[in-house]
Amino acid sequence: MVRPVRKAVFPVAGLGTRFLPATKAMPKEMLTIVDRPLIQYAVEEAQAAGIEELILITGRGKTVMADHFDHSFELAQVLKDRGKTEALKQITDLLPEPGQMSFIRQQQPLGLGHAVWCARNFIQGEPFAVILADDLILAKPGVLTQMVEAYNEVGGNVVAVEDVPRQYTNRYGILDVESDDGRLARAKGLVEKPDPSVAPSTLSIIGRYILQPEVFDHLAKKERGAGGEIQLTDAIAKTIGTVPFHGYRFMGERFDCGQRRGFIEANIAFAMQVDDLRDQVIELLRKYA
Ligand code: UTP
Repeated sequence: MVRPVRKAVFPVAGLGTRFLPATKAMPKEMLTIVDRPLIQYAVEEAQAAGIEELILITGRGKTVMADHFDHSFELAQVLKDRGKTEALKQITDLLPEPGQMSFIRQQQPLGLGHAVWCARNFIQGEPFAVILADDLILAKPGVLTQMVEAYNEVGGNVVAVEDVPRQYTNRYGILDVESDDGRLARAKGLVEKPDPSVAPSTLSIIGRYILQPEVFDHLAKKERGAGGEIQLTDAIAKTIGTVPFHGYRFMGERFDCGQRRGFIEANIAFAMQVDDLRDQVIELLRKYA
C-alpha cells in the first residue's frame, strides 16, 4: 500500500522572462486562459485529484495571487446587490477551505528545485505533488488524477512525460528508460536539458510530479545544475536506486503557456470547449486568417 498524496506544491516564483513584458509585475501563473488564471486551473486539477493542502511558492506578485483565492467582501456585496448570482458563484466557488492554502516566499529565484525545497517544512516527510501551472493540460480526467492512479500501482516518484522531437531534448528533463509498457516507463536515469546528440531518449518531463520526501535530502545540498539553477530533476535523479522512478504518459493535450504560442493556442483550445464560445471562435479565426 503506497502512502497517499495529500499535499501539492505550486512553484509560482519564476521570472517568466520568455513572456515579458506581460510578466514584469505579475507572475505568469496569473495569465488568463479564457476566463481564469493559470493558477486556478492548476488548483482545480489538484483538488479534483484529492489534494487537501495547497502550497504556493511565490515571488513577485504574491498579493494578487493571495487576493485571487481570498474572500472579496466588497465585490461579493456589489454582485449580490445587483443580483448577479452567476458572477457571485464564480468568485465564491474558487475559494479554498480556510487553512487549506499556504504561501511561502522563495525570496530569490534560484531555480525550480530551490522553489520546491522551500516547501520542505510544510511537506513533513510525506509524498507530495508538484504542479507547474504554466504547463496547462486539457485532459479528462485531469492529469494529476491520472497520475495518482498510476502512483497507486507503482509508488515512488512518478513524473508526467511526453515524447518530444529529438531536436528539442535540450529544453527538458529527459528519461533514461529501462523498460516501457507504453503507459508507464521505468527509468534508470534522468538528464536535464541534454543535447539531442547525447539524449538517452526523447521522453521529456513536463510540469507534473508526484515525489517522495527523499528528494529534499538532495535539494538541501543546493547544488547548481543546468543554467546555474538548482534543478528539481537533478535531485530526483539522485534518488534513483533508492526510490522507484516512473514516467507516466498522460492522456491529454499540453500547452506551454509560459510563451506566446502556447498561450494563444491554449486560449483557442480551451475556448473551443465552451459551448457558447465555440462558434464565435471559429468565426473570429476565419475573420483574421
Ligand atoms: P521556468 O523554467 O518556466 O522558468 O520555471 P521561469 O523563470 O518561470 O520562466 P522563463 O523561462 O524565464 O520564461 C518552471 C516553473 O518553476 C517556477 C516557475 O514559476 C514555473 O512554474 N520557478 C522557477 C520558481 O518558482 N522559482 C524559480 O526560481 C524558478
